[in-house]
Amino acid sequence: MLMLKKSDLPEGSVQEEETLTVTIPYSPRPLQAMFHQNLKRFNVLVCHRRFGKTVFSVNELIRQAMACKRTRPQYAFISPIMKQSKRNAWNMFKEFTAPIPYVKFNESELRIDFPNGAIIHVLGADNADALRGLYLDGVVLDEVAQMDPDVWTKVIRPALSDRRGWGIFIGTKEGKNLFYDLYEQAEGREDWYRSLITAEESGYIEEGELTAALESMGPDSYAQEYGSAWDSAIKGSYYAAIISQINENGQINTTTWDPALPVITAWDIGMKDKTCIWFAQTKDGNVYLIDYYENEDEVLGHYAGVVLAKPYTYKHHILPHDAKQRSFDTGRTRVHQLESLGLRVHVAAKLSVIDGINSVRVLLPKCHFNRDKCEAGLKALKHYRTEYDALKQIYKEVPRHDWSSHASDAFRYLAMELRTTVKRRPTMANTAKYDPFDFAPEHKTTDEWDPLTQ
Ligand SMILES: Nc1ncnc2c1ncn2[C@@H]1O[C@H](COP(=O)(O)OP(=O)(O)OP(=O)(O)O)[C@@H](O)[C@H]1O
Ligand SMILES: [Mg+2]
Repeated sequence: MLMLKKSDLPEGSVQEEETLTVTIPYSPRPLQAMFHQNLKRFNVLVCHRRFGKTVFSVNELIRQAMACKRTRPQYAFISPIMKQSKRNAWNMFKEFTAPIPYVKFNESELRIDFPNGAIIHVLGADNADALRGLYLDGVVLDEVAQMDPDVWTKVIRPALSDRRGWGIFIGTKEGKNLFYDLYEQAEGREDWYRSLITAEESGYIEEGELTAALESMGPDSYAQEYGSAWDSAIKGSYYAAIISQINENGQINTTTWDPALPVITAWDIGMKDKTCIWFAQTKDGNVYLIDYYENEDEVLGHYAGVVLAKPYTYKHHILPHDAKQRSFDTGRTRVHQLESLGLRVHVAAKLSVIDGINSVRVLLPKCHFNRDKCEAGLKALKHYRTEYDALKQIYKEVPRHDWSSHASDAFRYLAMELRTTVKRRPTMANTAKYDPFDFAPEHKTTDEWDPLTQ
């Protein structure tokens, strides 16, 4: 139930009475009610599939928007991609706000204007630019596990600073990512509330249904979507299981730059998106990822500057195949631009994405990562995945394009370059059985074979 004061409503809309009472068609389930009561400034709510996360957070936003006494309060409901927000939340907002008089819906902007001047924006984190410059009194991030960590730290968190806004992070576990980090950080902090509710605890899903889900999904996916496990492999992930394995083997560690060896870099250059750069060295058949850099909205010269400012001695820099295309603005290719800035460029071979992904899968077991310097890149590699087609119950053949694509593409170019460099070697024996990455010492055909020194 919401009480609207005459002063909150447009002039002349309420004549006599001081308040107007409207009933929202939502009665929270017990655990939803517990969340509404316990909320602090920041809230990390980890719940199983079909818990009622979206219904809860849509209604919390409506309540906050109507209760806020500030001038023109602004709120946002954000899903990983705009399509999800539109499909899952927009109709819920319309349904639950229907009894409130003088609410306006802007269908093209997905924006709701309330009679007291409050605004709720329904957005997707895939269009982070639309979020820049917004001040927010409160925000809901739905399905946080699928979001680019940068959208929270660089775009949304700053938007909350002006008015000391609040945040609700809600979703289902999908491996260790931003959602996991926030859940960990929330522990014991004064203005943070966190809660993790499994399907067994809530009792919202019938036992027979849970048993059927366990049988059809297998224990890993079940533990992720309905149980309490954080670290099960991400559904559809290309590399999460291999990365988890190499982590167990101790290959994600404090590996550092060896000044005696050259460094190669592999780039994915984004025009509107991120540019990502991996820094690698090879030794004794292993690949050492010693550094990683990503940024966006910067010119090519910025990235060249970052690379050249490092103390490394470079062998060369791997660029995607399309870096040979001429830029519309300058008439020059990105290869030319970087070469004129002093970088020795190698253009990656043109292989299909799936071939490249397979190359990465073969390369990863030979990789050692510096845990701190490569943290953002590793998160992206773990997240990179194919889309699951729930209707056909199959994984699609192409990777999903999201925030993790750029770091993963750059890594793919690295793997492809190492593979083709090795493949080109004319003296390599037994090419039919030859594993392009198997450049461990016992497979060398020359004494000092190393793809970087060719
Ligand atoms: N308080 C409530 N009263 C009645 N039904 C509810 C309530 N909360 C949620 N539901 C119903 O439960 C179902 C799941 O709700 P919702 O979509 O919010 O869950 P979710 O946790 O976001 O699910 P998903 O994991 O699929 O995103 C919907 O059919 C919704 O109508
Ligand atoms: Mg939902």
